[in-house]
Amino acid sequence: MLIISPSLFAADPGHLADEVARVADAGAEYLHIDVMDGRFVPNLSFGPNIVEGLRKYSNICFDVHLMVEEPENHLDAFLQAGSDIVTVHLEATKKMDEIRRRCVEAKRGFGISLRPSTPVSAVLPYIEDLSLLLIMSINPGFGGQSFMEGSLERIREAVKIRDAAGGSYAVSVDGGINPKTAALCRDAGVDILVAGTYLFKSEDVSAAVNTLRGNDVNS
Ligand code: DX5
Ligand code: ZN
Repeated sequence: MLIISPSLFAADPGHLADEVARVADAGAEYLHIDVMDGRFVPNLSFGPNIVEGLRKYSNICFDVHLMVEEPENHLDAFLQAGSDIVTVHLEATKKMDEIRRRCVEAKRGFGISLRPSTPVSAVLPYIEDLSLLLIMSINPGFGGQSFMEGSLERIREAVKIRDAAGGSYAVSVDGGINPKTAALCRDAGVDILVAGTYLFKSEDVSAAVNTLRGNDVNS
C-alpha cells in the first residue's frame, strides 16, 4: 500500500499542531519531519523539542529525516522525543552500524537517505534491518524545488536491489512531488511519497492526498 508522508517543512510554522491534524485527518499515514543543521545542508529547521512537542498531539507515524552531520550525536534525542522512524544520510556518518543497532534496540525504524549524487548500490552493506531507503529527488536543504527526473531510475534500482537481496525496506522519495511526479514514482515502484509544498499549500488536503495516491479521476 502506498504511504503518504506530508513534509512538515512546508506547513504554517505558527500552527504546527493544527497542520499535523489537518494532514492526519486527510488520511496521510506518516508525517515527515525534516531536521537541518546548517552544516550537512545550508538551512536550519526543527529540533527534537518540536518532535516531542508534537508527539503529545498526534499518534501519526513520525518519519524523521535527519539532514545533519554525525547524526549519531543526535540520535538518542530524536528517539526519546518520540520518532517512529529515524532516517540518516549515508554521506553524513561513519557510524552507520552503531546507528542501526541503536534504532533496532529502541524498536524504531532505521532509515538511510541518499543524496542524488550517491550511488544507490552504496546501501548494500546496510540492508539488514533497514526499514526505509529514502531517495532524494532534489538536493536536500530546501522545499519547493523541481523533481530530478533521474530519480525514477534510482527508485527502480532501489526496488531491484531490495528484491534481489531479500530486503524488506520501503522505498521512499522526497522532493518535488506533485500529481505528475507522484504518478511516475508510483509506476517506478515507490512505497512512500514525501510531499511538502504540494500538500500543505492545498486548500483541500484530502483531495490532494487522494490525487497523490492516483485515486483522483481528474488526475
Ligand atoms: C528538503 C526536504 C524535503 C522537502 C520537500 O531537504 O527533505 O522533505 O520538505 O519539499 P517539497 O515537497 O516542497 O519538494
Ligand atoms: Zn525530507
